Parts: sequence; C-alpha cells; structure tokens
Amino acid sequence: MKFPGLRLRRLRENPLLRHLLEEHRLAVHDLIQPLFIKEGLTGRREISSMPGQYQFSPNEALSEAGRIHALGIPAIILFGVPGKKDFTGKIAMAKNGVVQKAIRSIKNKYSKLLVVTDVCLCEHLSHGHCGHIKNKKIMNDISLKTLAEVALSYARAGADVLAPSDMMDGRVTAIRQKLDKNNFEHTPILSYAVKYASGFYGPFREAAESTPTFGDRSSYQMNPPNSNEALREAKTDLEEGADFILVKPALSYLDVICRVKERFGCPVGAYAVSGEYAMMKAASMKGWIDLKKVVLETHVSMKRAGADFIVTYWSKEIAKWLR
Ligand code: PBG
Repeated sequence: MKFPGLRLRRLRENPLLRHLLEEHRLAVHDLIQPLFIKEGLTGRREISSMPGQYQFSPNEALSEAGRIHALGIPAIILFGVPGKKDFTGKIAMAKNGVVQKAIRSIKNKYSKLLVVTDVCLCEHLSHGHCGHIKNKKIMNDISLKTLAEVALSYARAGADVLAPSDMMDGRVTAIRQKLDKNNFEHTPILSYAVKYASGFYGPFREAAESTPTFGDRSSYQMNPPNSNEALREAKTDLEEGADFILVKPALSYLDVICRVKERFGCPVGAYAVSGEYAMMKAASMKGWIDLKKVVLETHVSMKRAGADFIVTYWSKEIAKWLR
C-alpha cells in the first residue's frame, strides 16, 4: 500500500491509540536513584552544580531513602563521602565506614528497597583516583585487592548488588572470587563494564568530592570515540562473572547501549550521569526547555536504545510525573 491509501498519520491522531501503540515505555520500576551520603554532615547540602540534588547526612539519607521508596522507585545506588580520606583504602572497607553504616540502616528500615553500592576508591582515597597510585601511575593489580575487600565489606553490611565502577582490568574476577569465598555467591555484580572518560562527570565529582588531585582518568576509563572496545569490555566483564552491566554516560552513548544489548542480550542499564542532569536542569531553570518533556523523552530514548533500567538523578521527578 502506498499514499494515499497508506497514511502513517492515521495512527497518530487519537491519543489513546497513540499510547496503545507505544513501542517503548518508561516506568517507575526502571529507575535507580543515586544517593550521596556524607559522613559528619548535619542535614543536607545542595550540590551547587546539580540544583535539586544533595549530599545527605547519614540520618537524612535514611529519610530520603524512605521518600524514594514511598514513590515506588525500586532501587538506590549509594555513594559515600567519608569524613577523612587516606591512601590505603582502609577507610573504604571499614566495618563502620559511611557506606557500610548507611547500608545497614537503610536495609534495616526499608528491607524492600534494593540497595546497590558503587564500588570504587576515588571517593575514599586522598588523591581522588579510582585505584592505588605509584609514581603518579594507577596500579591495576594491587587495586584489585582493595576493591575486592571493599566489595566484601558492602556485602557483609547487607548490600543487595555491588557495582564496581573503577575500570581496573580484572576487578570482576577479583570481586567474584572474594565474594564466593565468603559465602556471598548469590550477591550479584552490576559491572560498569562500559564507562567512558567523560566530561559529563564534573558535577558528580563535586557531589562525591572525588576530583583527582592530578591528571585525569583517561588511562583507565574508555576513550569516547570507541565502540568496538565497548564490546570487548562488556565481553570480558561478562566472562569474568558480571551478572549485568552498565553503560555510562547515557545520552552520548545510545549507540553503545544498542550494540551491547544486541550482541550479548544480557541485562543492560544506562547511567544518565551528573552532567546530563546539570544540562537539563540549567536549561529548564533558564526557561529554555520544557523539563518534563525533555526528561521523559531522553529517558525513553535510553529504553529504546536497549536499556532495561536507568540510573538517573531524575528518578523522583519521573516517578511523580508517571503517577
Ligand atoms: C566513581 C564514579 C563516577 C561516577 C559514578 N561512579 C565518577 C568518575 O568516574 O569520576 C559518575 C556518575 C555521574 O557523573 O553521575 N568512579
């Protein structure tokens, strides 16, 4: 059939029909809200480059988890900012560390909220890099030991899912072996398998206080022009035992989400990062875009690309809009 018999606009006229025929849909159960917990803080502090997002004191984080849960959002991902940092990683793996305590208190009160923990060293080490350093170089293999200990300490505190984001080679193997040896063989690993050295992480580093004191992360995070490399990263992490994976950032890498999903068919999440939040927030504060329309459109585009779920700072807003 051809025009004039065929008219594609016919299915666009009635809003009910339009809705019925949607190929992809964003739902509250797709969302994971990041939560920044700062040791020693009282109350909450707004992140200046992410208006509407906060660092929370441990007490406030618990209340915020309750609000997130009440909106029907199934999961949070925790980022801890310790009161003191060191060069060893001991602070990151302490039984009473900021993240470990938060996991226990949140799981204790909201057992039905899924608690994911970011596993990385940058927030905990004084130099702000994701692994240990020697002569200004990032030392891959010794970092694995620390990362595995940190992951185990989160599992012991009761984390439901561990999400390594450091981009060291072999970290999934190291974490999996450590967990299995300690009877956490059922704790899943959500690997940030495909993580680019992106300019879009700027606001996060204010929130997590993790800006590197020298250099940048391009010796371990991926180079933005590459997508075949993303398939290799995903493949190795899956072979090492990652249960599901993240692609990050989201909007500039929709093609990568699509390729990873098509190639491996594993559960894939998109991480709509801090800079993506900041851009939309800033434009909407200027009155330049319709925030709700743009947020819903960008997030459904991640689903369309193949994401099964989305880590996003817009989770609460989206949950309210979709109600
Ligand atoms: C930790 C980590 C980062 C993000 C998530 N985990 C920052 C980084 O790599 O510097 C970024 C998230 C965001 O920008 O929202 N390594």
